[in-house]
Amino acid sequence: MSEFDEVVDRTGTASSKWNRYGADVLPFWVADMDFRTPEFIRRAMHARIEHGVFGYTEASPTLLEAVIEWLDEQFAWRVQSDWIVWVAGVVPAFNMACRAVGAPGDGVLMPVPVYYPFLSAPRHGDRQAIECSLALSKGRWQMDLDGMAAAVTARTRLLLFCNPQNPTGRVYSREELVALARFCERHDLLICSDEIHCSLILDPEREHVPIASLSEDIAARTITLMAPTKTYNTPGLGCSFAIIPDAALRRRFNAARLGLVPGIGPLSFVAAECAYRDNSDWLPRLRRYLAANRDLLEHTVAQLPGLRMTHVEGTYLGWLDVRQLELEAPHAHFEAHGLGLSDGAQFHGPGFMRFNFGCPRATLEEGLRRLANAVSAVQRP
Ligand SMILES: Cc1ncc(COP(=O)(O)O)c(C=O)c1O
Repeated sequence: MSEFDEVVDRTGTASSKWNRYGADVLPFWVADMDFRTPEFIRRAMHARIEHGVFGYTEASPTLLEAVIEWLDEQFAWRVQSDWIVWVAGVVPAFNMACRAVGAPGDGVLMPVPVYYPFLSAPRHGDRQAIECSLALSKGRWQMDLDGMAAAVTARTRLLLFCNPQNPTGRVYSREELVALARFCERHDLLICSDEIHCSLILDPEREHVPIASLSEDIAARTITLMAPTKTYNTPGLGCSFAIIPDAALRRRFNAARLGLVPGIGPLSFVAAECAYRDNSDWLPRLRRYLAANRDLLEHTVAQLPGLRMTHVEGTYLGWLDVRQLELEAPHAHFEAHGLGLSDGAQFHGPGFMRFNFGCPRATLEEGLRRLANAVSAVQRP
C-alpha cells in the first residue's frame, strides 16, 4: 500500500473542496489533492511553529538560492535573484500582470478553455479579454496560431498563457512553444505564463519547458508564474513567485500590487523552501501514483458510451467531453449521481466536465462507479 492510498478524513478542516457539496456527493472539482503534504515539509513547519513568533516575513536568501538552483537543475534556466517577485498566489499575480501591461482598454489574448480566473482577470484591470479557441486536432488540444492571429487587434498587448494547460492537461512541446514565441514577437505581445503545474508532468517522455527559457528576447517579454503549492498539495498556504527579467516590467508589476496584495506568511515560506530543496523520492512517487489514476480514468472513460477524453500529459485534471450525452444541465446531472465535477462552461468549454483525479485510488474507483451510473442513466429511456 502506498501512502497516497490513505483516505484522509478532511471533515472539520473547512476544506473548500469538501464543503461545497453534501455528504452524498464526492468532490472531484477544485485543483486540491486529498493527499497529505510530505512529512519533511510538515516537520519543518512544526519547527517554525515552535519558535512562536509569526511576524511579517520576507523571502530569505536561502529560499532564493533554493529556487534559483531548482530552476537551473530542472529547466537549465539561469535566473537572477532580483528577477524574482513573491506574491501570495498565482491568481493575484496574473491579475497584477494584466494591470502591469498596456493601458485600460487594451486587449489580453487567451486560448480557451482555460482555468476560469484567467477569464475575468483582464476585466479586473480594465482590459479586454480576447478569447481564441484551442483546436482539437488528432486527439490533442493545440494552439491555433492562425485563429490567434485573426483575433489579435492593434491594442492587444498581452498573451495570458497556461502551460501545463488547465483544464486540458496538455504539456506543450518545445516546438509548439518556439512557434508561440515567434507569434508573440511578430505581434509584439508580452507574455504572462502560468506554469504552476510544471512539476506535475505525468509522462516520462514529456518535459516542461518554461517559455521564458527559450531565448533572452522571450525572457525579456515574459512574466513567468510558478509555485510549490500544487505539487506539494499546499494550495491553502498561498505562496508563489513571478520571474520577470525586464526591470521596467518588474517595476510595473510591483506597482500593481500596492495596497491590495498581502505578503506571504512565515509558514508558507518554510514550506516553499523545503519544497525547492526536496530531492527525496516523494514527488516521483506522487507522479507515478497520479499517472496510474490518470490511466484508470482514461481506461474507464474509453469504455463508457458517449464519453471521451484526451490524454492527460500533465496536471491531475481530466477534461471529459460529455457532449454526446446531450445533457441539458451536465453539471447537475453528474451531481445528482454523486459526482462533484467542475463545469466546463465555467472554463468557456461548454459540454465538458473537469475531473480532478488527485485522490486515493479507492476514492477514484468510487467516483468512476458513479460516473458509469451517471452515463447509463442517460442511455435508459
Ligand atoms: C493554472 C492555475 N493557476 C493558478 C491556480 C491557483 O493559484 P493560487 O492558488 O496560487 O492563486 C490554479 C489552481 O487551480 C491553477 O490551476
